[in-house]
Amino acid sequence: MKAAIIKEYGDVTQLEITNTNKPVDNNDEVLVENVATSINPIDYKARQGLLQSMFNWQFPVILGWDVAGKIVAIGDQVTDFNIGDEVFARPDIDPLGLNGSYAEYTAVKADKLALKPSNINFEQAAAVPLAGLTALQMLRQLNLQAGQKILIQGGAGGVGIFAIQLAKQMGAFVATTASANNSEFVESLGADLVIDYHRNNIDEVLSNYDAVLDTVGDIERGVSILRSGGHFVTISSSLTDDQKAISDKHVMAGWLQPNGEDLALLANEIESNHLKVVLDSTYPFTTDGIQSAQKRIETHHARGKVVVKIKDKA
Ligand SMILES: NC(=O)c1ccc[n+]([C@@H]2O[C@H](COP(=O)([O-])OP(=O)(O)OC[C@H]3O[C@@H](n4cnc5c(N)ncnc54)[C@H](OP(=O)(O)O)[C@@H]3O)[C@@H](O)[C@H]2O)c1
Repeated sequence: MKAAIIKEYGDVTQLEITNTNKPVDNNDEVLVENVATSINPIDYKARQGLLQSMFNWQFPVILGWDVAGKIVAIGDQVTDFNIGDEVFARPDIDPLGLNGSYAEYTAVKADKLALKPSNINFEQAAAVPLAGLTALQMLRQLNLQAGQKILIQGGAGGVGIFAIQLAKQMGAFVATTASANNSEFVESLGADLVIDYHRNNIDEVLSNYDAVLDTVGDIERGVSILRSGGHFVTISSSLTDDQKAISDKHVMAGWLQPNGEDLALLANEIESNHLKVVLDSTYPFTTDGIQSAQKRIETHHARGKVVVKIKDKA
């Protein structure tokens, strides 16, 4: 199959399309023929070698953790899905580094899959799993309740676009940070208050907040705007011992857990038109395309999700 591999850690020029073996699906897995995948910041961090302490991958490595495509083979123990189903998933991260989604095929554990919403195409579907699950699960960790005030950092980014919409549905007042050129965009997703972070720090504008979803590592200021008993979660940084020791506020670092049930919940929200998927850009599945897609994410200014189209159709 065609896959984008890296042969060593480094810059985007390490990424190249080549021919490699198709993954084999185990008993509890399905094999998905991918139509699209998406790029997340973890992809370039992995490419740069920043995940080496977590994963002892052997080269060549296939990156990518957003699958959207059609099931072409199915393991013996899989009962909830059939060959031909159109699905999407955030697969588990393969300990060998061989089963990423920058490829024509990815093996996915059935409990990580959900049926693709029928009202969006595969490129839009590929934009949802990793970022959408993160937004949903972090809002849960924040114990967000109707009527509460939340700050979502980086509202125009991959996680931010889903978090704003989900927090509004939960009945919260949503403040977000964005560059001035994204102000109207994040308002269109439901943001009640937009802070241009180039002009103001959040602690100059906000106080007494119930919750903060930190996507940018602005931990001290994020915690400082919380009321006593408020909840803070960062997804982009680890906490210092002092930050972990804060006792009058709930301060956490969060990691998404791939989960088909949560993904089905997001699919339902999309199908009932309560959740929009916003694409920043779509790239072809070529060496230049995959390199350009990662470069776009590395600008830190994508508006919505960056997607790679692997096939024309399922
Ligand atoms: N722990 C986990 O499980 C997990 C899961 C998903 C993501 N993450 C991490 O979360 C972070 C965000 O992910 P993502 O997919 O949302 O990234 P992304 O799509 O690349 O985010 C881009 C957005 O970040 C905004 N931004 C850049 N610098 C900012 C700043 N200083 N203050 C506020 N906004 C800023 C930009 O807004 P403007 O263009 O408007 O300036 C842009 O819209 C990454 O570090 C990623 O690795 C962690």
